[in-house]
Amino acid sequence: MIFRLFNLLFLELILILPLSDSLIAISDKQRAPINPPLPYTTDQFKENANLQSSDIFTEAKQDPEAFWEKQANCLNWFHPWDQVLEWNPPDAKWFNGGKLNACYNCLDRHMQTETRNKIAIYWEGERGEKKSLTYEDLYIEVNKFSNVLKSLGVQKGDRVAIYLPMIPEAVVAILSCARIGAIHTVVFGGFSADSLANRILDAEAKLLITADGGFRKGKVVTLKEAADTAIEQCPCIKNTIVIKHTDLPVDMQLEKDHWYHDLMKEAPATCPPEEMDAEDTLFILYTSGTTGKPKGIIHTTGGYMVGATMTTRWVFDIKPSDIYWCTADIGWITGHTYVIYGPLSNGMTQLLYEGVFDWPERNRPWQLIEKYGVTILYTAPTAIRTFMKWGEEWINGCNISSLRLLGSVGEPINPEAWMWYYTIIGKKKCPIVDTWWQTETGSIMIAPIPGITPLKPGSATFPLPGINALILNDLGEPSSSGSLVLTSPWPSMLRGIYNDRARYEKSYWKQLGNGYYFTGDGAMKDDEGYFWLTGRIDDIIKVSGHRLSTAEIESALVDFKGVAEAAVIGVSDQIKGQAIVAFVVLKEDFIFDGSLESTLKQHVVKQISAIARPERIIFIYELPKTRSGKIMRRLLRDIAEGRLLGDTMTLTDPSVLEEIKNKYNED
Ligand code: WT7
Repeated sequence: MIFRLFNLLFLELILILPLSDSLIAISDKQRAPINPPLPYTTDQFKENANLQSSDIFTEAKQDPEAFWEKQANCLNWFHPWDQVLEWNPPDAKWFNGGKLNACYNCLDRHMQTETRNKIAIYWEGERGEKKSLTYEDLYIEVNKFSNVLKSLGVQKGDRVAIYLPMIPEAVVAILSCARIGAIHTVVFGGFSADSLANRILDAEAKLLITADGGFRKGKVVTLKEAADTAIEQCPCIKNTIVIKHTDLPVDMQLEKDHWYHDLMKEAPATCPPEEMDAEDTLFILYTSGTTGKPKGIIHTTGGYMVGATMTTRWVFDIKPSDIYWCTADIGWITGHTYVIYGPLSNGMTQLLYEGVFDWPERNRPWQLIEKYGVTILYTAPTAIRTFMKWGEEWINGCNISSLRLLGSVGEPINPEAWMWYYTIIGKKKCPIVDTWWQTETGSIMIAPIPGITPLKPGSATFPLPGINALILNDLGEPSSSGSLVLTSPWPSMLRGIYNDRARYEKSYWKQLGNGYYFTGDGAMKDDEGYFWLTGRIDDIIKVSGHRLSTAEIESALVDFKGVAEAAVIGVSDQIKGQAIVAFVVLKEDFIFDGSLESTLKQHVVKQISAIARPERIIFIYELPKTRSGKIMRRLLRDIAEGRLLGDTMTLTDPSVLEEIKNKYNED
């Protein structure tokens, strides 16, 4: 009887507790619904989603280290770690003492499972050539190429530069470096010889892997030629390996240049993976900062691989049958994490496409999706807005019904583009994961988990489990709008800037102090706690999702003989997100025949890359400067965006603004 009474009481307790919970919920509901319907995620998607319960967020909050320790079991370790995290801001060590190999986790471990015979990569060249590689094919190729690298003297810790188009050998090159413990530094194939040289020199790379060329919009990109120009300035490069891709003649030098296919013929078939410490560097990737010099972002092995592997699972809700297509180039962090390490460590099948979207016609992406049955598409807002501009007719002729999940990355996605992506591409059945992260964060930080998070068009939603973000106002207090910071360390965080400790501290940690990571992004939070990213708040601009620093472009401009001074700003652009506008002051005695504007644009392309080509160059007599000589880019932005001019009191000569305004609005 007593037992029964106890039981009843207990039952009542259980009944009352959720009841009181829901009472709170009801009063809250008017403001912020706790369980709103998920209008953008179908019931069918939710029911089939890998993650359906928000317990994962609670678990991560309760004990972050235990949470990350559990996640680290997604990898194969040769030796377990001694400590999950050692955090001496701004220095983090994750899984210290643990031993593993990133390539082993992407390939070897699948050799014992049925993934061995699964397609890892469907590759299609711009001209329609095709190749497919199973995990075993890739494993064999990587073992051999690892031996090739070793035979040319590459050792653990050496830096290897990779300057390639989107071809399977690029994946082989990257994984082979990881296999032997060499540090890869991939340079986007669209970068100029000068940009390549700067990166090689900074990283002190020993070997360069390139190709005879690549295809882009039906034309050949002469990579080998650019590589040759670059390494004339780089005595550190002892050997160059050249992949035959275009079959066009290139200049090969006897001692230094080697054909990939020749070396591969001789290479032994097996190469054991190097046992790497969790904190050993996996790669260096250069990205733009706020000065003219790019930063070599350092990522290490253990934490990075945990971040890459787990975020791929959470955000893309991956299934063994998925055909995944991330359109990013391997030269960017998205290519590293969500073309190479994340998908391969998870044994996914993916499409790798070499060319541009409108070659030979604007229906190319949709034809590819139809042909390969792509289920997950991960691309950039600038691409989505371009597809929107091209019009639906290019899509209508293709069957893209295989798609089940869509992703966005690289810049804020405007709600209009989001809705178009959702309706026209996703046919209202694919959730959209808007993923916010950076080269520095290594993996996705803020994004929906599609089976759990209700979506809002234009919002990256919430930080992922184990990630803590805050928005701070000018006073450094938590606020609903201001500067986005990450308040606790995470496994895939950068470990430094190569050869520049002071810059690492200054760029990310000293802005606010207290161990918070400064992202450089502006953000807002709505009543329901959703994050809305609003763009950079520093001198970095995002052009078609490409990250550029205004200072980098300015120094390319002033490098031109007739230019005295230059100021570069990003202005809103309907397709590209931001476009580059340069204000240039010429030297007084400079005389030029022909079109100076186009010559200067070409100069920037030669110095940096076509992605840095200014949209407009406006020649003026003087830049707006403070008495201490600081260029007021903010006022230039005000002029460009047609805003009322901000405070002009500190200017040496406020009248220069009138001239600039007239010039800007002239053409
Ligand atoms: C910057 C990082 C993240 C991989 C590709 C770019 C912007 C990135 C989003 C997004 C709003 C975004 C930020 C960030 N950004 N994703 N979903 N919504 N902004 O990497 O070249 O290092 O650029 O890209 O401004 O700081 P990145």
